[in-house]
Amino acid sequence: MANQYEVLGKAPEVKDLQKLSGSNLHLQIKNLSAGYGKMEILHDFNLLVDKAQSLCLIGPNGAGKSTILHSIYGFTNIFSGQIEIDGKEITNLSPAEKLKSVGIAYILQDNSVFPDMTVEENLLMGGYIKDKTEESYQEAQKVLQKYERLNKRKNQPAKVLSGGERRLLEISRALVMRPSILLVDEPSIGLEPRYIEMVFEILEDLQKNEKKTIIMVEQNAKKGLEFADIGYVLVSGQTAIVGEGNDLLKNPDVGRLFLGG
Ligand SMILES: Nc1ncnc2c1ncn2[C@@H]1O[C@H](COP(=O)(O)OP(=O)(O)OP(=O)(O)O)[C@@H](O)[C@H]1O
Ligand SMILES: [Mg+2]
Repeated sequence: MANQYEVLGKAPEVKDLQKLSGSNLHLQIKNLSAGYGKMEILHDFNLLVDKAQSLCLIGPNGAGKSTILHSIYGFTNIFSGQIEIDGKEITNLSPAEKLKSVGIAYILQDNSVFPDMTVEENLLMGGYIKDKTEESYQEAQKVLQKYERLNKRKNQPAKVLSGGERRLLEISRALVMRPSILLVDEPSIGLEPRYIEMVFEILEDLQKNEKKTIIMVEQNAKKGLEFADIGYVLVSGQTAIVGEGNDLLKNPDVGRLFLGG
């Protein structure tokens, strides 16, 4: 089958990526080649994102979008390249160390609440890795104060939550560790439109008011690019197009391939 993405032309260079991030660089991926077992999925991949910036990865199924999040979090085999936070190399830290000491939280693509535990217990699970349970408890209470929808149901099993409330619980459970970076895989998947709005509003609040850095993958390219400051289009493990989210929405190639236009 002829590759419909071949027309996209020359890959952006690191200097193009630098123009999109600002002067307050938080996470940088440098020349990363990574994959599973011996199979290389990402080839010489670069990414730059500032503190309190949001970046959305779009691209066809199997392009390697989730693999980028997996690599940042420490779930892949890294063959070469580096990942840095605030200029400090973290490439080979374990996921637990990343969550605990550098503040990277990963919100999974699939439904991951514990259905028979209460909403509050689910939140406390978010802090399981913390040494001090008291701290997790305090953070969980803050989350409950912030999100009335969860607070109302804090003593009920998570299985009674609606799809949107469940997604809210998944996101807020990650907040219990007070991460500085949120990796979010497909926040809108399986949700009705009104819940999709809610999830993006929550993410916007976390970015704007709590200064979280957000790296997301979004199959709903329109929503993802409307939300994010920066968009990267990934094809076959390499970046094909980058731009400000709003500019990519107007890019004819992006429109034709990802926005159904
Ligand atoms: N755990 C794994 N072990 C082996 N191969 C994997 C694993 N996870 C993903 N892959 C392979 O890596 C490639 C990239 O997958 P990835 O999940 O990163 O794609 P994606 O862009 O997120 O796609 P989608 O839009 O379908 O979620 C695919 O060929 C996939 O089969
Ligand atoms: Mg994926």
